[in-house]
Amino acid sequence: MSATKPKRVSESSTTMTEMVMPNDTNPMGNLMGGNLLRWMDIASGICAGKHCEAHVVTASVDHVSFQKPIRLGDVITLEASVTRAFRTSVEVFVEVFAHDIKGGNPRRCNHAYYTFVGLDEDGHPIPVPAVIPLNEIEQQRYDSAPRRREVRLILSGRMKPEQSIEIRSLFEGIAPK
Ligand SMILES: CC(C)(COP(=O)(O)OP(=O)(O)OC[C@H]1O[C@@H](n2cnc3c(N)ncnc32)[C@H](O)[C@@H]1OP(=O)(O)O)[C@@H](O)C(=O)NCCC(=O)NCCS
Repeated sequence: MSATKPKRVSESSTTMTEMVMPNDTNPMGNLMGGNLLRWMDIASGICAGKHCEAHVVTASVDHVSFQKPIRLGDVITLEASVTRAFRTSVEVFVEVFAHDIKGGNPRRCNHAYYTFVGLDEDGHPIPVPAVIPLNEIEQQRYDSAPRRREVRLILSGRMKPEQSIEIRSLFEGIAPK
């Protein structure tokens, strides 16, 4: 059985730390993007699973950008938090920070939004608990989540643009008639 009681963001926030080893890098000595995405998927999947108290699968990943290279030997910290839950899916925001082993050159390297779907033991989607935002940043991420959801559902062909509410309201008044 899945949890249905609304939960605070802090109840599932997840922090994961890794060190970049030679096997994780490309020939330039930088962390390979695919390895970083894997760690981001794990950190955000743990966060989503804790929120849903259920098995979860990744349904989509978006807004990924690699802003700063991460070097061999750097220590990276991944911080994942739920932003909002819908019916059977939950959006997770994950940020990546890096520094060298002495704590030098600290920087924010990238971020992404992951969407997970809660599943029962037979692999069927199940209702997930609502998210309770408690501070300004949590509230901002909560309020903007339906817009991101509409974009990803439209781009994946699961929603017709004319069915959108949030996206259309963004363009009201500026779209040519
Ligand atoms: C994700 C999955 C369970 C959805 O199954 P489905 O039969 O389409 O189920 P539904 O239509 O009931 O959708 C379930 C939820 O997934 C969401 N969803 C499905 N595809 C999505 C996408 N591309 N982006 C965002 N959300 C998506 C739906 O919006 C719905 O959320 P909601 O209930 O909160 O509105 C199914 O597509 C799946 O198993 N995918 C493979 C997952 C996987 O293997 N991940 C690892 C990949 S490497």
